[in-house]
Amino acid sequence: MSTKKHVLIAGASGYLGRFAIKEFKERGYYIRILVRNPDKIKTAGPHGEPAVYDIADEIVVGDVTNPDSIKGICEGIDLVFSSLGLTAPDPKLTSFDVDHLGNGRILEQAIQEKVSRFIYVSVFNQDKMADVPSIKAHELFVTDLKASGIPWTVIRPNGYFSDMGRFFSMAQSGHMFMVGEGEKKINPVHGADLAKVCADGAEGICREIAVGGPDIYTFREVMEMAFHVCGKPVWITPLPMWLAEGGLMVTGIFNRNLADLLSFAVEALKFDHVAPAFGTHHLQEFFAELATKNE
Ligand SMILES: NC(=O)c1ccc[n+]([C@@H]2O[C@H](COP(=O)([O-])OP(=O)(O)OC[C@H]3O[C@@H](n4cnc5c(N)ncnc54)[C@H](OP(=O)(O)O)[C@@H]3O)[C@@H](O)[C@H]2O)c1
Repeated sequence: MSTKKHVLIAGASGYLGRFAIKEFKERGYYIRILVRNPDKIKTAGPHGEPAVYDIADEIVVGDVTNPDSIKGICEGIDLVFSSLGLTAPDPKLTSFDVDHLGNGRILEQAIQEKVSRFIYVSVFNQDKMADVPSIKAHELFVTDLKASGIPWTVIRPNGYFSDMGRFFSMAQSGHMFMVGEGEKKINPVHGADLAKVCADGAEGICREIAVGGPDIYTFREVMEMAFHVCGKPVWITPLPMWLAEGGLMVTGIFNRNLADLLSFAVEALKFDHVAPAFGTHHLQEFFAELATKNE
């Protein structure tokens, strides 16, 4: 019988989840992962997240919206890590279904199995965006987790390099729209740096850990850097906030789920997102890697 600690990683095929697999493996854990599509993790992801198929010790194929598919997921597990969440619009599912209820189904089993800790990845600045549906769903789960009786850690990252990668893709197309003036600040974090903080959360008192990266930029500076790194002239068209909000209202009439997810992107641009700095990876180097990948 293995003496290694067993960790369940949910959200394992995602940007952060894959770095978490690598980090926990390097720390000597036995790794069980939950994925919907194992083929997806056989190759590296679009933002440099690693292929992890061969790193996992055990792969469970399941979907948290289908309770039967995740039955027994926490059997023999010491620690649960979840970065599972709805981050792209789905025609049938809402953040409430996935972030709150879906993670809740894993939590129920973690309680039954008396796991020693549950680490959950929520978001930074949650109080300033409390009415955004995806934030509400994350925080409903945080409330349940804290009340569960299981030791917990809540990670609160501000923005991932993968998210900044979207600006890079737009810069490559030669043009981007910017909601507002782009003067708000953020210090985004690389998945590998964030995964270290997450794994550190396996020990110690129950706590919330706010996490950002080493460099602070305005959103406009991030966009300009993306144009510079891909060798294109800066072409940014500002959109007034009222226009973006009006667009969201109209989108909501036709597609509620899409509008709910986009509302996070618009709301987030109204505040600074400067969180305590961790890590050693720099955004400029990340953009340079994306540029060489696309050559
Ligand atoms: N990106 C950011 O800047 C940022 C900042 C702060 C907080 N966060 C939060 O951090 C978490 C992780 O973010 P990320 O960028 O790593 O997200 P991601 O790349 O989209 O990964 C989400 C993961 O959840 C899985 N998932 C979604 N629905 C599922 C379902 N019904 N059943 C099983 N698995 C399901 C996805 O599986 P598939 O691969 O099959 O889709 C994927 O593995 C999210 O909760 C996000 O809100 C993100």
